Amino acid sequence: MNCDITTDIARAADALAGGQLVAFATETVYGLGADVFNESALARVFAVKNRPHFDPLIVHIAHVDWVDRLAVDLPPHAQKLADEFWPGPLTLVVAKLPQVPDLATSGLPTVAIRQPAHSVARELILQANCPVAAPSANKFGRLSPTSAEHVAEQLGDQIDLILDGGPCAVGIESTVIDATGDTPTLLRPGGIPLEAIEQICGRVELMSPNAAESAEPQTSPGMLKRHYSPSTPLRIVESLEDVSFDRRTGFLGFAPQPNLPDFEVIEILSQTADLQEAAANFFAAMRRLDAAGLDLIVACRFPNHGLGRALNDRLDRAAHR
Ligand code: TXA
Ligand code: MG
Repeated sequence: MNCDITTDIARAADALAGGQLVAFATETVYGLGADVFNESALARVFAVKNRPHFDPLIVHIAHVDWVDRLAVDLPPHAQKLADEFWPGPLTLVVAKLPQVPDLATSGLPTVAIRQPAHSVARELILQANCPVAAPSANKFGRLSPTSAEHVAEQLGDQIDLILDGGPCAVGIESTVIDATGDTPTLLRPGGIPLEAIEQICGRVELMSPNAAESAEPQTSPGMLKRHYSPSTPLRIVESLEDVSFDRRTGFLGFAPQPNLPDFEVIEILSQTADLQEAAANFFAAMRRLDAAGLDLIVACRFPNHGLGRALNDRLDRAAHR
């Protein structure tokens, strides 16, 4: 039986503080929340998602001062980035305090911290009065949820409550930056564009695809090549001339384009070629394509700047078999 979907923040905060699993809206995607200091709740998060224990969780805070509950302090780069982008879709990986459970950080000496901007998420965490560990509220490796209904479809019968905050405005996950070294390293492109990060702290190290491939899961846990995937095979094409129409094929496109071939289903993410709008629509459009009984989804790459970089990252992982 599916759990309740509510807009009652106090009820959801009580449930979280009492050790229950509450999925909640953030500006990026819906998170599956647990009190970070409650180890049995954390264990349930991994079990419900089928998430491997080597993939650590992001811990969400209601106020910058709450960093003290999780980390010694923010190193200078992290502090500058937090001043600029918190609350918002930026996650900072920093050295953790001993009391942060190993289960949350997969035994790493670091913890990933984010202050979300969505008013419902902020109020929930504030009222629960505990930092909230929350991965995206989907089965491991699958499409991320950007509405309460998406969460209910995949996890509704295994969790305690869903706090509805409407559709997610950003629509793709936070940018994850490792701030433990001298130069910040981009671990996952996301809702804050790389260009904006570089403006604040200069050069940013990129995890090269080779490093990501050969790295131990521990050093780059979020870089698994196959992730964010629909059940339907997805192929990225350079040109639509490469598409053969011998199977039921759907199309995921960034902006309108002339002379589109006769696909079974067409999802155009932004009528005005706006990357923000495309990001906000991305996962819902993927879900509709995935539910359409197609044999193949074909997609073209996004312009590789701003949020387009994160969208291309999600496409590449969705296409990987
Ligand atoms: O926007 C978001 O970040 C959403 C919302 C709910 O906040 N959350 C999210 O969580 O996307 P999840 O679990 O799907 O992704 C967490 C990412 C993974 O790539 C994970 O490997 C990385 O953060 N991560 C977490 N802790 C880490 C650490 N200590 N070191 C390196 N990477 C870490
Ligand atoms: Mg996820």
